[in-house]
Amino acid sequence: MLKLVTTRLATHTDLEAIRDIYNQGIQDRIATLESDIKDHAFMQEWYSKHQGRYGVIVAEIEGIVAGWASLNQYNSRSAYDGVASLSIYIDRDFRGRGVGSHLLKAIEQLAIQNDFYKIVLYTFPQNEMAQSLYRKNGYREVGIFHNQGRLDGKFIDIMAMEKCFIY
Ligand SMILES: CC(C)(COP(=O)(O)OP(=O)(O)OC[C@H]1O[C@@H](n2cnc3c(N)ncnc32)[C@H](O)[C@@H]1OP(=O)(O)O)[C@@H](O)C(=O)NCCC(=O)NCCS
Repeated sequence: MLKLVTTRLATHTDLEAIRDIYNQGIQDRIATLESDIKDHAFMQEWYSKHQGRYGVIVAEIEGIVAGWASLNQYNSRSAYDGVASLSIYIDRDFRGRGVGSHLLKAIEQLAIQNDFYKIVLYTFPQNEMAQSLYRKNGYREVGIFHNQGRLDGKFIDIMAMEKCFIY
């Protein structure tokens, strides 16, 4: 039976679960150019940058944190104050069960509440599950940066996508 997914703002006590899920995404080599496993000190610093407008939302299933999404600073110039970049990671055990869809909707609501008019994101062109999630939710492909980064010694292409809440 499909279990109920709930979403809420993250608190400091969620940091360990957030880190474990992030580290899975890093190890899977499908979500990010990050390659080093993150420790508690890294997450403390990360969390300190995710206060105020740059919020973090967790999704829970029966009290277990199954995934998280965050609004990140896109660019420090004031012209870009209304643009946030997005991160979203689901625990391996809960992928493909609708958690990402719930989280994306919740983080978009938070973005609008916090006066962002646009979300941008960066994804690997071969990350079909992520692209499917984003396209279904109204994100459009901006384009592909070729050889944008290196991971495990190989050049990696990165796809930029965006969703604008005003026109
Ligand atoms: C990408 C990710 C965030 C998607 O979240 P999710 O909870 O797994 O996705 P959902 O179950 O909400 O499914 C969203 C859509 O993905 C597609 N999808 C679901 N399962 C799939 C599968 N096994 N294969 C391909 N596409 C799939 C479907 O189109 C689905 O929409 P639908 O259920 O309305 O048909 C999640 O899988 C994840 O964290 N992956 C690893 C980290 C990552 O890639 N993060 C994104 C970085 S850009």
